[in-house]
Amino acid sequence: TPDQVRALVEIAEALAREAGALVSDGRRNVTVSATKSSAQDVVTAMDFASEALLRTRLAELRPHDAILGEEEAFHPGTSGITWVVDPIDGTVNYLYGHSPYAVSVAAVMGPDPTVAPDPATWTALAGAVFSPEDGRSFTAGLGLGATLDGRVLRVNPPRSLIDSLVGTGFGYVASRRRVQGRIVAELLPRVRDIRRAGCASLDLCAVAAGGLDLYYERGLQPWDLAAGALIAQEAGAQVTGLRGGQAQEAMTVAGVPGAVEELRSILESLDADSDA
Ligand code: IPD
Repeated sequence: TPDQVRALVEIAEALAREAGALVSDGRRNVTVSATKSSAQDVVTAMDFASEALLRTRLAELRPHDAILGEEEAFHPGTSGITWVVDPIDGTVNYLYGHSPYAVSVAAVMGPDPTVAPDPATWTALAGAVFSPEDGRSFTAGLGLGATLDGRVLRVNPPRSLIDSLVGTGFGYVASRRRVQGRIVAELLPRVRDIRRAGCASLDLCAVAAGGLDLYYERGLQPWDLAAGALIAQEAGAQVTGLRGGQAQEAMTVAGVPGAVEELRSILESLDADSDA
């Protein structure tokens, strides 16, 4: 029901803000604690601290829900709801003191609550993305619309690809980056311009707020897109994958009507959802 969704949105927003305050306080002395998919894919002590805080709070507030986070193992639940959290989205920006970065918290419903849900098949119910450095708080609830600091968000009006400002991002593995570079080279002459901000959740929120007309990225993990994709969608963006699928790891595309179809068909023709 709308009231249940609203309650999830309130929790998501409160937790994103609380974790955001923690990571913002910790930014002065941040160092790399480990690397993941490649030497470029870093994690800091604050990623772990922020995720621990989110997990502790969720266990108190929603003991029957599952939790899927970037830094720790999937915690199964029994309620059918899974919280999908990114304790710091934009870790490289965070490490360099370069904006932007965010905390992303979402509640989704997957087909089976005992296994980690997949963006390709889940239904997102509620999401919040908090940007600590400027205090902006984006939220959305399924069917309830999207807001920034309480103000209703709306995407830009429909436009063509050549008039569109496009955001994207890159993975951390060299072989994929080679393909991603080729796609950018194909797109650049066909768009207004391209931005790479380094924080997928805030890129999706930028589409919602009209700061970008389009955004696409291959290789997003569930926590990168869970909240942001719902916020974009509830602000009127079309949010999809390629070849008729839902937004997912293989490819996420979000944007205003018109431009989004043009972008999708170019990405499909370039096989942008493959690494070969
Ligand atoms: C990364 C950021 C980046 C995107 C990468 C993500 P992380 O998230 O969102 O913009 O291009 O694909 O992995 O690792 O900093 O949480």
